[in-house]
Amino acid sequence: MLRTKIAVFVSGGGTNLQALIDAEKRGEIPSGELALVLSGNEEAYALTRAVENNIPSVVVKRKEFPSQLAYEEEVKRILRERDIDMIVLAGFMSILSENFTSAYPKRIVNVHPSLIPSFCGKGFYGLHVHEAALDYGVKVTGATVHYVNEIPDGGEIILQKAVEIQEGDTPEILQKRVMEQAEWILLPKAVEIVAKGLQKGK
Ligand code: GAR
Repeated sequence: MLRTKIAVFVSGGGTNLQALIDAEKRGEIPSGELALVLSGNEEAYALTRAVENNIPSVVVKRKEFPSQLAYEEEVKRILRERDIDMIVLAGFMSILSENFTSAYPKRIVNVHPSLIPSFCGKGFYGLHVHEAALDYGVKVTGATVHYVNEIPDGGEIILQKAVEIQEGDTPEILQKRVMEQAEWILLPKAVEIVAKGLQKGK
């Protein structure tokens, strides 16, 4: 059976992309193939990870298009050109509109660094999420992998894992613990689950 072709959308360091690359190398994503990395920013270290691992990559900058619609149409064109079946948002910091998400129903997944529905939605990304969790004083946080629909962080949850907050945590320390104990473990597992389901539908 053909493997599900996956595009990973990134904006920054790409440690979640690295977790996917490592999992694929260990044979833990047998149903999928990391076929493309798409970045909104040419400085993203994630692009270096793609090059080092022979994954084709492309940079598409929102500001080079007159509208969100024009930008999304170009992204869709690139995905069609490369026969991409599934998209993983791995630290991708732009919000995609319904025009885009409705073109890939149950085919886009996102990793979010909290237990949704806490600390999610517009404005909650990266370190801000951990700052908000610490400010609130929750004792447990975690990560969520979910399907992406038109509601930011509002799609069906696929996997979730809790992580304890410890005395003296800073947003940076907490971010690292959530990545190590939850995100990097959950994301490859969720990707295999979704890739496997799509493979059957092919
Ligand atoms: C990760 O913690 C990811 O969960 C988060 O950004 C970080 C990206 O790190 N994503 C969001 O906040 C999305 N709302 P990475 O580039 O090293 O994978």
